[in-house]
Amino acid sequence: MSLFIKKPLHLLMADAGDTDKKGLKRTLTATSLIALGIGAIIGAGLFVRTAAAAAQNAGPSVTLGFILAAIGCGLAGLCYAELSSSIPIAGSAYTYSYATMGEFVAWIIGWDLVLEYAVGAATVGIAWSEYLNNLLVNVLHWKAIPYALCHSPFEHSVDGLEHGMINLPALGIVAALSLLLIRGTQESAVVNNLIVIAKVSIVILIIIIGWGFMNPVNHEHYIPAATTYVDHQGISHHFGGFWGIVGAAGVVFFAFIGFDAVSTAAQEAKNPKRDMPIGILGSLAVCTILYILFAHVLTGVATVQDFRTTGKEASVAFAINKYMMGYGWLGKLVTVAILAGFSSVILVMLLGQSRVFYSMSKDGLLPGVFSKVHPKFKTPYKANLIILVLVGSFAAFIPGDIVGDMTSIGTLFAFCLVCIGVIILRKTDPDLPRQFKTPWVPLVPILGVAACLLMMLGLGWTNWLRLFGWLAIGIVIYFSYSAKNSKLRNPDKKA
Ligand code: ALA
Repeated sequence: MSLFIKKPLHLLMADAGDTDKKGLKRTLTATSLIALGIGAIIGAGLFVRTAAAAAQNAGPSVTLGFILAAIGCGLAGLCYAELSSSIPIAGSAYTYSYATMGEFVAWIIGWDLVLEYAVGAATVGIAWSEYLNNLLVNVLHWKAIPYALCHSPFEHSVDGLEHGMINLPALGIVAALSLLLIRGTQESAVVNNLIVIAKVSIVILIIIIGWGFMNPVNHEHYIPAATTYVDHQGISHHFGGFWGIVGAAGVVFFAFIGFDAVSTAAQEAKNPKRDMPIGILGSLAVCTILYILFAHVLTGVATVQDFRTTGKEASVAFAINKYMMGYGWLGKLVTVAILAGFSSVILVMLLGQSRVFYSMSKDGLLPGVFSKVHPKFKTPYKANLIILVLVGSFAAFIPGDIVGDMTSIGTLFAFCLVCIGVIILRKTDPDLPRQFKTPWVPLVPILGVAACLLMMLGLGWTNWLRLFGWLAIGIVIYFSYSAKNSKLRNPDKKA
């Protein structure tokens, strides 16, 4: 049987119809979807990766990196919006590709989405750990957690004196939020709404107050001359010039990840056809404006050298405490809001991951345990527990920069396939009712692929190797398990 067997759309729709009777609850409105999107979007990408991209790749021109990343996301977002409004089913890019490009590509995407959601959640967990230390030292005036207990075994301090062992705070936050998720999506959405308000307010406050503290000297070489920067772990990066900006775009692209997580909640939306495009594009638009202003202010307040040395961790709080005299309270507030904000990002990513596994399991590509719904809470609790182990291991043992870039490259790859999916579905199912249509097809999807590929190139060959390695493991699992257990290929087989 063909590797490219496609799940018929009427079957997909029937699966979604079943939802109300025996699966996930439909509770999310357009507003809660935008909040879910912003909850997922603003997080470590802004508060940690911006400074990393300025230090390693682009200096102040990280703002241009944000613009390039936003263009790529906008183009892919338009494609996501069309697919999620015509195929309103849990599972995101995975589900769309099952209908458009067939089972094998769908598997590859589903497997690749683990990089986006699970590895992404680990990245934010690691960033959470940085700011927890900042809370302990600068807000509560206690002692910092020993270096070895809040860093991976592959890291050492900038002065080379201390070595990491396990990142316990990152592991702890992932565990706590996994348990919260098991309690149910609706309860989690209420917590999420409160956090989103705190997070957006803090970003706006930093932009407004920080504007007056910008030092024009820091913006003098807005696009630094092209050179190579070798960081203290010995990894070299393109710094400055065109490739510096492209590299920065790949790094800060992480900050946009999440708007597509909205589409994974399609099965829980009250009116998916109308609300999904609003949720996806609305949250993307709000965040883009905030990001560009924020990055401009941050690189104006502190120097690239700060972000390479003492301000490498918890960079935003560092910049406020060092340069914004009289605003110590803002540094404290930021730390608390960021800790809460990161939690909401991790929550949405864990939610997205469990929903993707849920769909893959329903299709027989993963074992049935991933779609077992809790009798009382109506959540895929076993999937949540398995994901906890997976994400917890990444968070505890891998450095933040590595998991961050793996998340970016994996997500960019999924975006490329989503863009291609729109073109294919227009050809194969031209009459499918589409609440939202991507404009100028095929131009927009093609430009979307081009922008995402450019950012993938900017992330460098080591990340390509990691991506290929990950996909190779996925292909082995597909042929040894999934192809044999696929419900579509084996319609008579019992689950
Ligand atoms: N966009 C999310 C963040 O910045 C993943 O943390």
